[in-house]
Amino acid sequence: MGTGHRGGTRKTNDSARIMLTTLVGVVFGYFLGASFPLVSLNKINLPSSLISSLDVAIDVQRSPSIRITEIPGINKTSKIYVPTNPRGAESLPPEIVASESDFYLRRLWGNPSEDLDKKPKYLVTFTVGFDQRKNIDAAVKKFSDNFTIVLFHYDGRTTEWDQFEWSKTAIHISVRKQTKWWYAKRFLHPDVVAAYDYIFIWDEDLGVEHFNAEKYIELVKKHGLEISQPGLEPNNGLTWEMTKRRGDREVHKETEEKPGWCSDPQLPPCAAFVEIMAPVFSREAWRCVWHLIQNDLVHGWGLDFALRRCIEPAHEKIGVVDSQWIVHQVIPSLGSQGKSENGKAPWEGVRARCRTEWTEFQSRLANADKAYRAQINKAKRL
Ligand SMILES: *[C@@H]1O[C@H](CO)[C@@H](O)[C@H](O)[C@H]1NC(C)=O
Ligand SMILES: *[C@@H]1O[C@H](CO)[C@@H](O)[C@H](O)[C@H]1NC(C)=O
Repeated sequence: MGTGHRGGTRKTNDSARIMLTTLVGVVFGYFLGASFPLVSLNKINLPSSLISSLDVAIDVQRSPSIRITEIPGINKTSKIYVPTNPRGAESLPPEIVASESDFYLRRLWGNPSEDLDKKPKYLVTFTVGFDQRKNIDAAVKKFSDNFTIVLFHYDGRTTEWDQFEWSKTAIHISVRKQTKWWYAKRFLHPDVVAAYDYIFIWDEDLGVEHFNAEKYIELVKKHGLEISQPGLEPNNGLTWEMTKRRGDREVHKETEEKPGWCSDPQLPPCAAFVEIMAPVFSREAWRCVWHLIQNDLVHGWGLDFALRRCIEPAHEKIGVVDSQWIVHQVIPSLGSQGKSENGKAPWEGVRARCRTEWTEFQSRLANADKAYRAQINKAKRL
């Protein structure tokens, strides 16, 4: 079929041609898809080569003698195998592989490329119960529209949040009676939140009167912090020295603890350390930290001491932002989600589990280190 014929057809009967080619294309596409699920379709990618694909379809239809296997670029026996593709996707041509995602809301109509007026670069999650709505409303207002807002609901109440305008475009994930780290492990896989430069994974009981998220990010970038938290006020005696707010500076990266508490001034709790109530991770840091979170150790106790394993050098890239600070209100909301056992109050059971998880996490990490070193030594001997 020459180009002259093609042009003539277009001029004389455009709509008939479109109908014919569409129909043939559909039939051909079905045939092709059914016959060669793994072949490379380079030559007939839509839409840039739409015309040529339709011509191929016509050729096939009009000349039964042409066999599909003879169409250039399509070879029945050459299957795709790309070892550098993500695990499990090796049979796909790399350019179709979408290995990362985001929480951007899309329309159900129109051109997908025009769905988004904005692609927020930062993500903030709060683990919430409806009782804390006033606090969360105040907190969300400290985050500009450069943030995607995700709420993890542990009390099953979600639609009631729509009394706040921002709730209507927030992401709501509702699973009863789970913890922040349980949600983070399940719903914030690094590939799923890959669109975001920084990720805030926050508790619900934080006072944010003296906090502005945009300014916080500016400081984190300026001081090269991969893992950080805002300084805490007031000093209620429960917090570590490291996370207490200092009034005289923008950020700090080390501190002095009580005598004997720090074996090394560059190690936790004197440096390379933030707590787990209001951490902020860079994309790269989160990619590591997510792997450190254990599926069953839902309270995350002990994680704070291990965060440094994800960052090099940790004492320079983990720190506390003093000039954007928060108040830890210490509302033991999670405790009320526990269960009364052996005559003890629910919060006592929760607290006890936090402690045993801490010990368990430490011993798992120590054992993992030991196993790794043993393997290295064995390899050296061989
Ligand atoms: C089809 O692929 C196989 C294996 O990759 C190759 O040996 C063969 O030459 C190819 N045939 C054509 C017609 O390209
Ligand atoms: C959002 O981010 C852009 C680009 O970094 C910045 O120019 C803008 O000021 C930010 N918006 C707010 C409300 O801070």
